Amino acid sequence: MKKIAIVGAGRVGESAAHNLAKAELCREIVLIDIKEGVPQGTALDIQESAPIFDFDTQLRGSNDLKAMAGSELVIVTAGIPRKPGMSRSDVLETNLAVVNGVVDEMLRGAPEAMLLMVTNPVDVLTYAAWKRSGWPRHRVFGMAGVLDSARMASFVAMETGFSVKDITAMVLGGHGDTMVPMTRFTCINGIPIEHFLSGEKIEQIVQRTREGGAEILSLRRTASAYDAPAAAIASMVDAISHNRRQILPGVALLAGEYGLTDIAMGVPIVLGEGGMERVIELPLTAQEAAEFQRSAGMVRADLEKLKK
Ligand code: 2OP
Repeated sequence: MKKIAIVGAGRVGESAAHNLAKAELCREIVLIDIKEGVPQGTALDIQESAPIFDFDTQLRGSNDLKAMAGSELVIVTAGIPRKPGMSRSDVLETNLAVVNGVVDEMLRGAPEAMLLMVTNPVDVLTYAAWKRSGWPRHRVFGMAGVLDSARMASFVAMETGFSVKDITAMVLGGHGDTMVPMTRFTCINGIPIEHFLSGEKIEQIVQRTREGGAEILSLRRTASAYDAPAAAIASMVDAISHNRRQILPGVALLAGEYGLTDIAMGVPIVLGEGGMERVIELPLTAQEAAEFQRSAGMVRADLEKLKK
């Protein structure tokens, strides 16, 4: 890609910009934030690491959303983060206004771009951005499942002591307390984790995964997770930039898959140069389906708030 815009130069935006630059996933990155001097300073700081990390990506910062003009991908990380004790839904109203502003500017300056939503509550805001943009669903998607799955894989590695390189985990559903860690599809070099871990241990991993974001927030107190989220963003951008057609869990608009329409939530998607190529519909057990539908119910409850 030639140009990627990252809206929001907070910790997630900054860390994502650095990851994308180091991996040379595009030629130019523009970092946009309303805080005067912050995106400019951050872009320059990252730029000055280029001779050391050996990358040619050019970075610049701006306080004006118009700077996204001509971008092929816009990544939205801007918005207020939750504080300890808050749920991701508690920040919906404020962050919706931010997202609406971004979409309106995209319609003017980057009407062909793809949009990768990161701001929480990500499922609802992906839906809201898609609705406002009027774009086909393949161009509007969100990041959550790659992060949640990475957390789950990390916990499996910590428990078993096996290389994380061999572990694939999968977390579907809404990015909240009702997310659905799919233990049946979580394997160590193809071997289901049940072979190595007791039911009780697996349940602990599932619970820790669901609370992964809150665990970081309760430790740091004043900052949510950003290193793993930024890595997850880079992994999705890598799939797009190299047209890898990777199967990753991502927030996608559903059009009948899993029996759902008019909702966005975490499902396995195929990600390539055109964005979200398709949703992969897995046959779910009765219990998985029930958990998935419960999670959909939580996302729907937030979607209802949009209509108010
Ligand atoms: C997380 O899970 C902040 O939602 C983000 O860490």
